[in-house]
Amino acid sequence: MDSPLAVLGLDADPDDDELRRAYRERVKEAHPDHGGSAEEFRAVRDAYEQLKAGTTTGPPARDATHADDRDADESGDGDGDADTDPRSEVTYLNYDVLTDYGWETTDDDLFEKAAAADLDATDFGRFEADPTESLLEAAENRGFAWPFACRGGACANCAIVLFEGELSMPGNHVLPAEMMDRDVRLSCNGTPVTDELKVIYNVKHMPELEDLLLPPRPFKQAYPGD
Ligand code: FES
Repeated sequence: MDSPLAVLGLDADPDDDELRRAYRERVKEAHPDHGGSAEEFRAVRDAYEQLKAGTTTGPPARDATHADDRDADESGDGDGDADTDPRSEVTYLNYDVLTDYGWETTDDDLFEKAAAADLDATDFGRFEADPTESLLEAAENRGFAWPFACRGGACANCAIVLFEGELSMPGNHVLPAEMMDRDVRLSCNGTPVTDELKVIYNVKHMPELEDLLLPPRPFKQAYPGD
């Protein structure tokens, strides 16, 4: 098996900036939508996580103190963390809002209209996603309750529509090519692979996805004696 350095095409002892750039480069090449494979994509992510753990002195990926790091940089302490930040900026919009306002997922100015509509933070806003988190995990780790059921690529409950950017698809057993062509993706196992992402979540209510839904896990599980 190749070493993490070899997987990312790096020489020994890369600094954080070299590591970040190599990861960005390789993760796009390894993306199944760009000629790579799920196995290759996972190998690149694993290599990045291993090397990051050995070269980064900051807190673990899902530690809430990430926000403190960002604040420190924005305050101008000059530690350079913002320049080496591999996280993706995610702007989200709830599909229910489109229904309420009569908007379409294909509206060119959809996110501009949403920004001007004074929407609640559960319906529209931004957060940062770590490359080790799925989009669903990233939303949950920041306090949002986005829909899901299987968490394993076998339903459309967690589906989102990509408005801008790209999400990996390491395990999709359910979305037909037509839905993929319409930029539908699964948030439970897709991770952001671009610096910025604009997504419409909660699209399980799209009529085209109705047949691909499973009962939501928290409410419809069977128990002994049911
Ligand atoms: Fe079923 Fe994501 S929750 S594929």
